[in-house]
Amino acid sequence: MKRLKKIASLCQGDICADIGCDHGYLCEMLIDKQVKQIFACEVTTKNLEKAKQNITRYVQKHCKNVSISQNQIQYQGGSVTFVLSNGFRDLQILPECAIIAGMGGDLIINILFENLQKLPNVLVLQPNTKVDKVRTQIIKYYKILEDAILYDGGKYYNIIKAVRGCDSLSELEILFGKTNLQLLHNDFKQYLKSLKAYAKNIKNEKFNKLLSQIEKVEELYE
Ligand SMILES: C[S@@+](CC[C@H](N)C(=O)[O-])C[C@H]1O[C@@H](n2cnc3c(N)ncnc32)[C@H](O)[C@@H]1O
Repeated sequence: MKRLKKIASLCQGDICADIGCDHGYLCEMLIDKQVKQIFACEVTTKNLEKAKQNITRYVQKHCKNVSISQNQIQYQGGSVTFVLSNGFRDLQILPECAIIAGMGGDLIINILFENLQKLPNVLVLQPNTKVDKVRTQIIKYYKILEDAILYDGGKYYNIIKAVRGCDSLSELEILFGKTNLQLLHNDFKQYLKSLKAYAKNIKNEKFNKLLSQIEKVEELYE
């Protein structure tokens, strides 16, 4: 939940789409944040149905003037629309902000770049893997405003907020995130420590390089 709360805190705009909403918990947080139009998007009917059930229960408990139709819930102050869609393909509107969280980096990149006309102004991404690859790809079209690392439920999560534009990042910024390197929060330092312990056990060129990159960052604060 700490992970989803951080993601929700980074969302902005009146129209937000959660691509791969699954359980719908992030959409519930966006309702609390008073986002006016929320699009809960899923590639599987099963998960879309699960989101619909959870969000319906949530809205009935927390919102006023609720009206429910097949693909939409309206309530005082906003609505949630449920969209069965592979990525942005069947989403008929262009959201101001899109969230793609809890997926592998390659999948996030594919979803984003299969249709360049449909890219929103703001992105909040939480890749489970290949975070550096995601940064390398998105800076062709986006400027990264914030990188965050947080520890939740025994795991470290990387979260990226970006706005339309383009960016140029150093090798270390691509690997670890620019604002992580600027702010050097405790969760980030702990993340480096655990990454270092992991990298030390794998003896190959890639992990040797990673170790020396981690050590360069550690020099910034030791
Ligand atoms: C591990 S869950 C993460 C759920 C939620 N976003 C979170 O961060 O907790 C990934 C979800 O993305 C959905 N998904 C995978 N590929 C997708 C795609 N191409 N378009 C939309 N949803 C997709 C899956 O069905 C699944 O529900």
